[in-house]
Amino acid sequence: MFENHWKLYEGYVLKLNETMKQLSNPYDPELVRKASPASGKLRELETAKSFLNNAVLLHELFFENVILPDNSAPMAPGPQTMSLIQRDFPHVKASDFWDTIIKPTSKAARGWCIVGVNMLQSNMDVAMLDSHEGIIPLGLYPVLIIDMYEHSYSEQYGIDRGTYLDHLKRSINWSIVEHRLATVMSASEMMRISIPEEAEEYIRQQFTDKSDIEFGFPDEDDFPDPQPESTGLDHRNELSIQPNPRAHSAVEDKVTKADLEDAYNQITHLSRVSFSSTDDMFDKVVRGRSPRFRDELWAMMQEGPE
Ligand SMILES: [Fe+2]
Repeated sequence: MFENHWKLYEGYVLKLNETMKQLSNPYDPELVRKASPASGKLRELETAKSFLNNAVLLHELFFENVILPDNSAPMAPGPQTMSLIQRDFPHVKASDFWDTIIKPTSKAARGWCIVGVNMLQSNMDVAMLDSHEGIIPLGLYPVLIIDMYEHSYSEQYGIDRGTYLDHLKRSINWSIVEHRLATVMSASEMMRISIPEEAEEYIRQQFTDKSDIEFGFPDEDDFPDPQPESTGLDHRNELSIQPNPRAHSAVEDKVTKADLEDAYNQITHLSRVSFSSTDDMFDKVVRGRSPRFRDELWAMMQEGPE
């Protein structure tokens, strides 16, 4: 079942790459000219992009969180996971979280069950997706993924989704879930800075000569300079030749020793608790960082920290 599933995943990756190629430079002027909410090539490609992008990422997250090393005993959720369950699901016993919340939500889903942290509200939530590009609450960042598409269980379990979920429960890598939770909770804390009062204060600071600035939709008078003509296609072309920010950070990246050691520890810890190779973990950790960070971390991986 896993081998078939892997083939399906590879197909999604290939199709995603093809789609991104068609959407990238040189941008097809025909696509732009015929853009319409009713139909057309651009709509097809954009729809495919969301579908395939989510199919790839959700499968990667799923594979990673349902694989335990050989002969491992079932794991228990980590301390931060347990304390968030207790805080955000006070009506259930934390030890019954799988059976009372995750299992029924998964059984109700046609595509995916997602346990996540809502980054805009800093709380844990469980949601379902009926399709890769389906609807989930805004801000939900996934920490535990359950594949509920038929291809994930039918060959082995027929229509018995309950037994599939009971078996899956025993192979959840809660250490991965705990790691994802810790990362997303600290990011979520940083995002809370944008509460409305602080955002308004920030904007006031940008307009020191307009301390009585009022908030609302702008009038035309609020824009004394004529707005530049839309650059349309050229602008899109310009954007499409920028390096992929996930692969190469365009922002100046401060590389500190503590930062490097932290990344090194993350890689060595994760490669102990999951099946992913050290190289895969390295790629994940350096995503979005500068070439200098990658080089220095690579050297540390070869030689070990000082
Ligand atoms: Fe799947």
